[in-house]
Amino acid sequence: MDDGQKDCTRLLSELQELRRLHAESQAAQSAFRVAEAALRESEMRFRSVAHSAVDAIISINCSDEIIFWNPAAEAIFGYSEAEVLGKPATILMPEQYRPEHSRGVKRYLTTGVPALIGRTAEVMGLRKDGGAFPIELSLSTWTTQQGTFFTGIIRDISDRKEAERNVQQRTEEARQRTQELESLIQMVAHDLKSPIISIVGFAGFLRKALNGMPLDEKTLLVLSQLSSLSKTVEHFLKDLLDGLAVEHSEPELNPVQLDEHAREVVQQHKAVCEEKGITLDVDVAESLPPVRGDKRRLAQVLDNLVTNAIRHMGEKPLPTIRIQVSVDRGSVITRVSDNGTGIPPEYCNRVFDRFFRVPGTSGQGTGLGLFIVKKIVESHGGSIWVESELDRGTAFVFSLPAVDAPVAPG
Ligand SMILES: Nc1ncnc2c1ncn2[C@@H]1O[C@H](COP(=O)(O)OP(=O)(O)O)[C@@H](O)[C@H]1O
Ligand SMILES: [Mg+2]
Repeated sequence: MDDGQKDCTRLLSELQELRRLHAESQAAQSAFRVAEAALRESEMRFRSVAHSAVDAIISINCSDEIIFWNPAAEAIFGYSEAEVLGKPATILMPEQYRPEHSRGVKRYLTTGVPALIGRTAEVMGLRKDGGAFPIELSLSTWTTQQGTFFTGIIRDISDRKEAERNVQQRTEEARQRTQELESLIQMVAHDLKSPIISIVGFAGFLRKALNGMPLDEKTLLVLSQLSSLSKTVEHFLKDLLDGLAVEHSEPELNPVQLDEHAREVVQQHKAVCEEKGITLDVDVAESLPPVRGDKRRLAQVLDNLVTNAIRHMGEKPLPTIRIQVSVDRGSVITRVSDNGTGIPPEYCNRVFDRFFRVPGTSGQGTGLGLFIVKKIVESHGGSIWVESELDRGTAFVFSLPAVDAPVAPG
């Protein structure tokens, strides 16, 4: 091959290379145009969303300058886009939040550890007119060749906060009013208690004093009603005061031996039971562990259950009430059972309701007793339930967690 031929071959191969490069460049240009169009479209889509959003959408660059500001941001903060672009984001927050904001941006840029990114925070914003207002802020971040950017979506929550404050205020007012009312009820009930106790005593005295005297039927009826109605009022006031005390003060927890209380309650009710021919006995497991409880309130529970058993005994040939105290898997179980009237099954789950009495129940009573009993047992971390069979009898059973602590002397 002579030199001319060689040159010709080289030129041809260079031409081929040039053609290939040209084709590649055209492909690259067209890919670039597609990417550019997609980018423009995505930008347009973002702008259109941002434009119509009700929330402020604000972006800043890594120098903390505002680079994007939507119309909602203008409506919320009062600045036009021209006024804020290029300004530091700190103009949008009250003075005291600025150092923390700058620290947060710096921390993220150096460590990449987000404090606020990806979650919603309630902070304060500052309007152009200088007014501070509560905002809900959710922050996201993205990084390009030009650096890291932050976008905040901001909602003005002034109305919501105001509504929350109003609800809180009204709740507090209602709480105070209830408290005042309850104090008043407590005062009245307390002041009425002594005269009522005296009336109960006087009625008893009159009945005894006039016993055997020739009295007409009407006088006898008045005497008996005086006695029974005054006792009803006495019970009512006692239940009312107990109920208020249970709801408004925490129990004083100490180790308590329930068997001792069971025996005390038996002593207290002995006379009445003897008078009515009721056998009242106690059956206690050996080496019973103490429960953590309020002595006075737990005694109140036993007293209420035994009083109910006496009250609802009906006319039984061998009336019997039994208090059994046993241990079962870390709990002390107390069972107060009777062979009295029983409770119709449809009412069993209602007897613990406030003011509930089984329809047709006679005698004194407010329907508060078992409500108070349940509150007390539950405030000790225990539970109570009823097992009953109509005409055969009833058992109220409550379970309290046992403690290993030694019983405090006295
Ligand atoms: N041992 C019981 N036997 C039968 N019924 C009972 C017994 N204890 C409670 N009850 C029923 O449950 C109701 C609610 O009892 P309680 O809250 O103590 O109210 P109260 O004794 O003031 O009526 C009673 O009115 C009665 O109908
Ligand atoms: Mg009762």
